Amino acid sequence: MDKPPSIEIAHQRVLELRERIDHHNYLYYALDQPEISDAEYDALFRELRTIEDEYPELITADSPTQRVGTTQITTFASLPHKAPMLSLDNAFGEEELLEWDRKVKRFLHLPMDTAVEYVAELKIDGLSINLTYREGKLESAATRGNGLTGEDVTPNIRAIPAIPLSLRPLKTKRNEDLDLFASDAPSYPVLIEVRGEIFLTHQEFARINSENEERGASTFANCRNAAAGSVRQKDPRITAGRKLDTFLYAVGYCEGWRFQSQYELLQTFKEWGLRTNPNIRLCNDIHECLEFIREWSERKSKLNYDMDGVVVKVNDFALQNELGNVSRSPRWAIAYKYPALQVRTVIEDILIQEGMTGALTPVAVLKPVAVAGVVVSRATLHNEDEIRRKDVRIGDTVIIQRAGEVIPEVVEVVLEERTGGEREFQMPVECPFCGAPVVRPEGEAVTRCPNPDCPEKVRQRLQHFVSRNAMDIEALGGKRLDQLIDAGLIRDEADLYRLRMEDLLPLDRMGEKLASNILNAIEASKKSPLKNFLYALGIRHVGEHTAEVLCEHFGTLDRIALSGEEELSQIHEIGTVIARSVHLFFQDQRNLNRLERMKAAGVNPETESREGRSNILEGKSFVFTGSLEHFTREGAEEIAKRNGGRISGSVSKKTDYVVAGENAGSKLNRAEELGVTVLTEEEFLKMIEWKS
Ligand code: IVH
Repeated sequence: MDKPPSIEIAHQRVLELRERIDHHNYLYYALDQPEISDAEYDALFRELRTIEDEYPELITADSPTQRVGTTQITTFASLPHKAPMLSLDNAFGEEELLEWDRKVKRFLHLPMDTAVEYVAELKIDGLSINLTYREGKLESAATRGNGLTGEDVTPNIRAIPAIPLSLRPLKTKRNEDLDLFASDAPSYPVLIEVRGEIFLTHQEFARINSENEERGASTFANCRNAAAGSVRQKDPRITAGRKLDTFLYAVGYCEGWRFQSQYELLQTFKEWGLRTNPNIRLCNDIHECLEFIREWSERKSKLNYDMDGVVVKVNDFALQNELGNVSRSPRWAIAYKYPALQVRTVIEDILIQEGMTGALTPVAVLKPVAVAGVVVSRATLHNEDEIRRKDVRIGDTVIIQRAGEVIPEVVEVVLEERTGGEREFQMPVECPFCGAPVVRPEGEAVTRCPNPDCPEKVRQRLQHFVSRNAMDIEALGGKRLDQLIDAGLIRDEADLYRLRMEDLLPLDRMGEKLASNILNAIEASKKSPLKNFLYALGIRHVGEHTAEVLCEHFGTLDRIALSGEEELSQIHEIGTVIARSVHLFFQDQRNLNRLERMKAAGVNPETESREGRSNILEGKSFVFTGSLEHFTREGAEEIAKRNGGRISGSVSKKTDYVVAGENAGSKLNRAEELGVTVLTEEEFLKMIEWKS
């Protein structure tokens, strides 16, 4: 950019850029409705930074470029809350919630058949935070601490882009009773404590853990710990590098503003640019809350962040005041808890599992126990350090938990149950599968088997190779692949493509039909899309998404194989860790030999053709529901994506189209309720001018 001609003009432009950046932050975080691409946003940001570099006198503390400080925090000072941060009483099960509703009415002297209006919200499982805004500017941020005093984490919280540094003025007039809206009245409070939760998405949690693992640092046991650890970093730049997110839902102390109800509070937050959770419902009575709770019992595992229940709040603040608090919890709110995902059981043994990259993970063999309807007999212990930290021994009674879809894990030992007969676990010094001496590099948490031919490593790699999102050789699912490995027919991926009928027929429980199914499936996999093949290779740090990014960029496997580390790390979304891993993979002669043999056998992964692609659906979001006639749901979603559309799992006001097939259920109803356009499969196909 040319140097602006004068500081006045530069100042003008700086103000304009800050306003635009704030506006786009608001669209993105508060409204969840971005209007520009990330690249366009970055360009605005860069321009602002360039001008500020040129004219440092124009920099102000609330400039978006000034979020991340560079000063190390030595200790977190304590910071008293102006109003205490309360906790919530729990209701376990529907009956306890109904009982609470009756208690509310008794306390308010209302007849039992009156309906109290409630707001139902997700209970976000993160770290509670108290943000103080004075005259609309973020002044400080504190953790909950003991409820009265927390830790001052302001520099770290400022580094989270989802938290606005300034509140946006309200457009609509409110609070007339306070006389706040004379024409010159401010449109935010003099002083307000905004409360909410800081959390991490599952993807970001996995990313942080794999990065930590790569550096040999210890990993976090769950999203909440990772969020708490990130907020309590001594270097705000590290916090800034973790994509922390927030949902805000309550007010503590407040001066110069009055809210009428919880629902209105949430709407006002949104207008101020404070990010709120979209999954809330204003309920006419407790039964509608129960419906919300039942719906989320199904949907909660699909969220990309952790929630641990539903908070039900009396909507009307006048009633809330009347109800008041009992000890440290309000009478006007309650946390409904879904049936325990944490249960007690006994560790009968600790085994070692090997992953396809050779990582040796200790796994607890449990006395089988049901956790939220699923019988669990294994739980991960992560690594040697975790076992030491939690002091887990064989024979211990432990608490285990299942969070979302994640593998169950051991949370803690119930020390009172120790009898003295428990045995400490020692990490093996030799790989239990091949006998090779294990390695655990200095400072790393993960122990690995270094033997590239370790049979267990190969078995895991092959399992991954044939799995659904990789080469999708379904006929080799389950035990079938093991059978071929055990019979010595396949030692690596390339061997699959040399299998013949006469190799298979002598095997146990193998008829001609099954054998030809297997051979056909293997044959068909030769034409898999390149991104599936790349993912199937099991390169460390190359998940499905990364594989897709690499294929989009390079187009052919040869181009990927020949690219340098530097070139790889230039690609958007490819960091140095992935770049190094990909580069190393294609440097390894064994891998090249395997690829060569597969190629010779006719494995010819195809780059997705540009054909059938368009931008026709650019910016439109789709939900597919019911069974379709021409495609599977995934197939139809893929087509929408190829034409620029976005896919969502649930219907909201922001959904542009719901494509409904046969037997479409609640999503269709929801679309009709919200007035979202519903398309038949035919109409959808017409939209993209599909020619089959
Ligand atoms: S309201 C008076 N709403 O749950 C308490 N809390 O167990 C006001 N939490 O400390 C809290 N999601 O950190 C409220 N939608 C939500 C929540 C929520 C998570 C946390 C919060 C609180 C804890 C109480």
